[in-house]
Amino acid sequence: MLCSPTQAVCPSLGTFIRQGIAGDQKGNVCMHFNKRIMITGGCGFLGSHLCERLVEQGHEVLCVDNCFTGSKRNVRHLLEYPNFEFIRHDITFPLYVEVNEIYNMACPASPIHYQFDPVQTTKTSVHGAINMLGLAKRVKAKILQASTSEIYGDPEVHPQPESYWGRVNPIGLRSCYDEGKRCAETLFFDYHRQHRLRIKVARIFNTYGPRMHPNDGRVVSNFIVQALKDEPITIYGEGNQTRSFCYVDDLVEGLIRLMNTPDDFTGPVNLGNPGEFTILELAQKVIDLTGSKSTLVFKDLPQDDPRQRKPDIDLAQKALDWQPTIVLEQGLSKTILYFEQLLKELKVKNAQDAPHLHN
Ligand SMILES: NC(=O)c1ccc[n+]([C@@H]2O[C@H](COP(=O)([O-])OP(=O)(O)OC[C@H]3O[C@@H](n4cnc5c(N)ncnc54)[C@H](O)[C@@H]3O)[C@@H](O)[C@H]2O)c1
Repeated sequence: MLCSPTQAVCPSLGTFIRQGIAGDQKGNVCMHFNKRIMITGGCGFLGSHLCERLVEQGHEVLCVDNCFTGSKRNVRHLLEYPNFEFIRHDITFPLYVEVNEIYNMACPASPIHYQFDPVQTTKTSVHGAINMLGLAKRVKAKILQASTSEIYGDPEVHPQPESYWGRVNPIGLRSCYDEGKRCAETLFFDYHRQHRLRIKVARIFNTYGPRMHPNDGRVVSNFIVQALKDEPITIYGEGNQTRSFCYVDDLVEGLIRLMNTPDDFTGPVNLGNPGEFTILELAQKVIDLTGSKSTLVFKDLPQDDPRQRKPDIDLAQKALDWQPTIVLEQGLSKTILYFEQLLKELKVKNAQDAPHLHN
């Protein structure tokens, strides 16, 4: 939880941060506050939690987003902080700012959103990476790429270690996302080899939590919204396919630890929760936790839907001393509370005939 804008406490000095100045009475300056960190995709689900955590730590945070799938609403509570700024910008175009670190999170992550304009999705991953890497090179910033477990495609190796090269369809409906992210990884490693850029690559597995988009078709948000409305819960296939679900706070902790590793550690490193559940098990947990009257409906599996996904997190445990701490029931309960509140707000807004909450 964030303190008020004038009461953010420096984690190292334990003193207050006021109007951009941090230090104790002896004049010691808080180094945490001096880092200027840019987060592309900062208005999105993961990006907004990352912004929040870094603002809380006293860093100067620059959130860059074109608000395609994210919303200013997700960072509205940060706008009053002197160490937070927002710029509306599309990263497929160059950007010139002075920063020390870049978290490149911009890219629509749910199939509904990334398939809406697949060419723009690939551009965001590829042109976006080139622009952000160019910026990092120019200002000598450290840069982290939010890559994805989708680069493993429909894997023959289970669980997936970082050494597995994947099994990806290059011409399918999901390819704009999967291949865009694969190419972005290539660019990161070529900038590292060719220009000695300090890079970090995180392969993020399915993550959930408050501020997920309610209509993005991702399984956790879908099930929760359907359950809260007592609507039938949609299962694709027979529901025996497995997924692992990481709570957003755990993921954000992993990203920050990765950014803070020594320069010779680049990753790629898997970040996710190795606890594995079938889609049917997830549906049942959501029904139990919401007390819903929802029934289950079964539909055909979409193209290239992976049968199983589970991260091998040995490397993250060793290199980052990181592993998820929040169990599924606990994370789901927090997420359900968020969606309950959001649905109430939407009901009021709809009653007032207001535009969509995520404009
Ligand atoms: N959430 C997950 O489970 C998950 C899993 C694997 C990887 N990731 C990756 O993490 C990142 C964040 O995912 P998320 O779940 O928060 O998704 P999200 O859609 O909520 O956030 C993405 C953000 O990027 C912004 N964006 C999109 N295109 C942009 C562009 N061209 N210029 C500037 N901003 C742009 C969107 O408006 C949005 O705010 C993505 O790169 C995604 O691929 C997420």
